[in-house]
Amino acid sequence: MSVLITSIGELTTNDPETGGNALVLDGAEVAWVGDAASAPQADEQVDVGGRAVLPGWVDSHTHLVFAGDRTEEFGARMAGKPYRAGGIAVTVGATRAASDAQLEAVVARHVAEAVAQGTTFVETKTGYGLTVADELRSALVAAKHADEVTFLGAHLVPPGADADEYTALVCGDMLDAVAPHVRWADVFCETGAFDEDQSRAVLTAAAKHGLGLRVHGNQLGEGPGVRLAVELGAASVDHCTYLAQSDVDALASSDTVATLLPACDLSTRQPLPDARKLLDAGATVALASNCNPGSSYTSSIAFCVATAVLQMRMSVEEAVRAATLGGAQALRRDDVGVLRPGARADVHVLDAPSVTHLAYRPGVPLTHAVWRKGARVR
Ligand code: NIG
Repeated sequence: MSVLITSIGELTTNDPETGGNALVLDGAEVAWVGDAASAPQADEQVDVGGRAVLPGWVDSHTHLVFAGDRTEEFGARMAGKPYRAGGIAVTVGATRAASDAQLEAVVARHVAEAVAQGTTFVETKTGYGLTVADELRSALVAAKHADEVTFLGAHLVPPGADADEYTALVCGDMLDAVAPHVRWADVFCETGAFDEDQSRAVLTAAAKHGLGLRVHGNQLGEGPGVRLAVELGAASVDHCTYLAQSDVDALASSDTVATLLPACDLSTRQPLPDARKLLDAGATVALASNCNPGSSYTSSIAFCVATAVLQMRMSVEEAVRAATLGGAQALRRDDVGVLRPGARADVHVLDAPSVTHLAYRPGVPLTHAVWRKGARVR
C-alpha cells in the first residue's frame, strides 16, 4: 500500500539531499521525496493543504514502565521542596505491586498519548523494578510497546540495600537476565543515586554484554556523569543541566549526544540547560520528554520544542532537528528522524503552515496527521 502526500507547505526532511512539496510512503518506508509534478503513482493520495510536514518526533528518553502517582510530591515541589532522587522509591513500590497487565496498560496508554502528538519513535527504560524479576518483567513489558528498551537497574539503590552490594547485583544477575531483551543500559550517576565508581562498574559490565551505553548525568549539580559518558563512548548523556566548561568541551569533541530534557527541569524547578553553549561549541543536542511520573510527567515533545525556542535560545530549526534527528542520533539510528528514501515512514503533519508555529503558538495542539511505520495512526 503506497501513499502520495501532496500540497506540503513546508517540508522538513533533515537531509540536505532531499526536499520538495510531496512524498511517497510505500509500506513501512519512505519511497520518494520531491516535487509533486514528478511524483510517481501511488495507491492513495492525501492533500495536506499547505500544511507543514516533518519527521515524527523521536523521543529518546522516557520511563514508561511504572505504576502509581506522585501528584503529592509534585505539589510539595511547587510549594518549595527540592526534587531528590529518593522519590523514585515511591514509584518502585507501586510498580512492584502492579501486575504485568497493569504495567502493560500504562506503557500502552502513554505511547498512544505520545503518538497522538506526533511522536513516532519511543525509547523507554526499566528502572522502577530494581529486583532481577521486576527489572526483567519491566523490560519485557516495555518491549511490547516501545521501539527501543533501555535497562536502568541502576536507577536508585533500593531503600535498605547496600549500595555496593546492589551495584554488584546489577552488574551480575540482573544484567544476565535483562541484557538479552534490551539494546541499551543506563545509569543514574548523581548524588543520591550512583557515584562515579559504581556507575563505571555498571556501564563496563553492560558493555561486556554487548549493550550500548547511556547515562543520566549532571541533572542536579555538576558531577562526573558527562565525563564518564564521553570516556566510555556512551551514545547519549541525558539531562546536562549543570555543565562545567570541560563537560561542554568533552561533548563537543565526542560522538556522545547531549540530550536535554527541559520539561524535567521546569517540573523540578531547576535551571534550563545551556543549549546555546553546547550548540555553539559544536556538540550534538537532542531534546526528549523524559516522560515519567516523578520529574517530568509529560509526553509532549511540542512543549519541549517550544520551551527550547522560547527559553533556551535555540532556533526553531535547531529545536525541531534536536527532537527528530537529534533523538535518532542519541539512539544511533539512521532510519528515523529523517525523510528520505529508505527511512522509516514516520511522518508528522502540523495544522500550521510552518514549524515556526510550534513556538509561535505554544501550548496549542498542532498535530494534524501522523503516519507511524507507514500506517496512518492519526
Ligand atoms: O530522568 N533522574 C532520574 N530518573 C528520572 C526521574 C525518575 C523519577 O523521579 O521517578 C529522570 O528525571
